[in-house]
Amino acid sequence: MIPRAKIDEIVDAARVEEVVGEYVNLKKRGANLTGLCPFHQEKSPSFSVSPSKGIYKCFGCGKAGNAVNFIMEVEQLNYIDALKHLAERYRIDWPQQVVSAEQLLEERIRSGERESLQIVNNFAERYFADLLINDDEGKTVGLSYFEERGFRPETIEKFKLGYAKESWDHLTNAAQFGGYNVDLFKLGGLVKENDQGKIYDAYRNRVIFPIHSISGKPIAFAGRYLIKDPKSPKYVNSPETPLYHKSNELYGLFFAKQAIAKNALVYLVEGYTDVISLNQAGIENVVASSGTSLTEGQIKLIKRFTDNVCVLYDGDAAGIKASLRGTDMLLEAGLNVKIVLFPNGEDPDSYCKKVGPLDFGTFLDEQRQDFILFKASLLLGDAGNDPIKRAELIKDIVNSISKIPDAFKRSTFLRETAILLKIDEQLLISEANRLVRGNISKQPRIEEFQYSQPSTEQELLIESVQELQLQDVQEKDLIRVILNYGDKPYSEEFESVALFIINEIALDEIEIEHPIVVQILSMINQQITDGSINFQYFVRHEDPIITEFVADIMSKDFEVSPNWHKKYDVFIDPVGYNFKEDVDSAILRLKIKHVEKLMKHNQEELDNFEKKGDMEQVDLHVHVHMHLTQKRYELTRKIETTITR
Ligand code: UTP
Ligand code: MN
Repeated sequence: MIPRAKIDEIVDAARVEEVVGEYVNLKKRGANLTGLCPFHQEKSPSFSVSPSKGIYKCFGCGKAGNAVNFIMEVEQLNYIDALKHLAERYRIDWPQQVVSAEQLLEERIRSGERESLQIVNNFAERYFADLLINDDEGKTVGLSYFEERGFRPETIEKFKLGYAKESWDHLTNAAQFGGYNVDLFKLGGLVKENDQGKIYDAYRNRVIFPIHSISGKPIAFAGRYLIKDPKSPKYVNSPETPLYHKSNELYGLFFAKQAIAKNALVYLVEGYTDVISLNQAGIENVVASSGTSLTEGQIKLIKRFTDNVCVLYDGDAAGIKASLRGTDMLLEAGLNVKIVLFPNGEDPDSYCKKVGPLDFGTFLDEQRQDFILFKASLLLGDAGNDPIKRAELIKDIVNSISKIPDAFKRSTFLRETAILLKIDEQLLISEANRLVRGNISKQPRIEEFQYSQPSTEQELLIESVQELQLQDVQEKDLIRVILNYGDKPYSEEFESVALFIINEIALDEIEIEHPIVVQILSMINQQITDGSINFQYFVRHEDPIITEFVADIMSKDFEVSPNWHKKYDVFIDPVGYNFKEDVDSAILRLKIKHVEKLMKHNQEELDNFEKKGDMEQVDLHVHVHMHLTQKRYELTRKIETTITR
């Protein structure tokens, strides 16, 4: 737990316009600042910052929050790490955590080891990079190799590429000379020990690709041979160490993370060289699985940044088939998977070099196809007219589809696959249902496919989403009104708007559904008792979900007229705005929504009693129905007069 005072100190120091200003070129417009949103691609600015309120909001993509939310989003950090990041930036002491003495000791040993390893790796990264640029052997062998591959100096610098000399002890000596503990080099896999206990360099006569953590620190190294030698492996890789767990890392993620968030897409390639080439071509949202098939840890990592993956496959058939299974895992994780296939014999690196960055970008856009349909057509070509092979193929495809968690997406794919394979959709559906039932033990809830026309399913889906959003709108609007005018006097009876609203909710027994609204209302209730409504309390709240929620609502103030924010600066208080009208209509809308909910519930019961033939209950419910209808009519009339008065 971080003390509340510390959070306040950090949020106080980290002025939103300053923090955002480091990532976005902001221009002053009235009381606010605007710029191009860092979270989505846009040509004209819809990203707005209100220094006085301490919040930002993008009217293009909807992202909103305070300085901490911004850092969480832009650096892809969790809440604590975002606070820490800001604390560092503003030189605020970070509180020491209180833990038991044993925990402390254990943690100190563990983090001590990791820290020491990091120091050793930092040293090794500089050492290899220095040899590549300044050493004669490094230049003639290593640097010329990279140059031949078309890597530019700034690319070599960016990825901190290096060179390991053709020597058994050059690094070992350098480590000893530098006063480092050689045991740590052993732990990190930079040196090895032979049967006689002699220490020798692990990387020799190879170019070096450092592997960076999400925050850009070198945590491992890959050394590629320069001359093909059947006796030695193409790459020497770091072993698992306290710093490096291969299955939880993706090569290039540090350089890619911002571009992934911005493009809402990640390209997945196989090799280090593919990542580097694409970066050089201006495509930065790319990571490599490093040869092996994807692990669950890596998929989780991807999911932290985006739901959209585009896999770039080398163009040989055997390789593609081998990759298909790993790609199924992406579907299982609920990701949207596209693929791009390269011409035979080409990989992303070679093809990018061949056609140049411009055509390469076009190629990616044009050749992108959906993974499942791609898989279907690939296997279809294989099976030809062989009925047994075709049956197997259908099973295989349906198996992939059944992995998709979203029922609506599944049914769309089944339909498209049925068309593609020219088979009966119902056949696919029943096969898929069988598989889904088989997988069900893992899932908490049974989800069957809809047998009805997908179009109805879609309609239902849209309807329920809209209903949910409407409910949200009214409840959120209530918070907006309270935060804006909560302290203002309402009437003789109610000394403040907040008091009035809380009272109205209690009086009509209105049930609030949105969990955050419930939470905020109870805090407001507390604030009323304490004397005043403090909007800044919510902007600085220790729960980032609340700060984001509140920032979003507060930036909506002036969407009273839908195009308001386009015509005027956002966040400005419209002069002479009648807040009472705003308050009244917000509470009336909520009441109408509430009555409608009661009506719906009553109707359901009415239907039931009708079926059972319980006429007494039917009469009662009809009576309730009429009463509610009357009430809704009154409320609607009131809203009309409120708005037009
Ligand atoms: P590649 O053989 O395609 O290597 O293996 P590359 O780095 O793309 O180099 P090019 O294509 O010859 O220029 C793809 C990835 O598989 C892993 C590496 O991560 C490599 O980048 N790999 C391959 C190994 O870890 N060890 C190996 O021996 C081979
Ligand atoms: Mn390759």
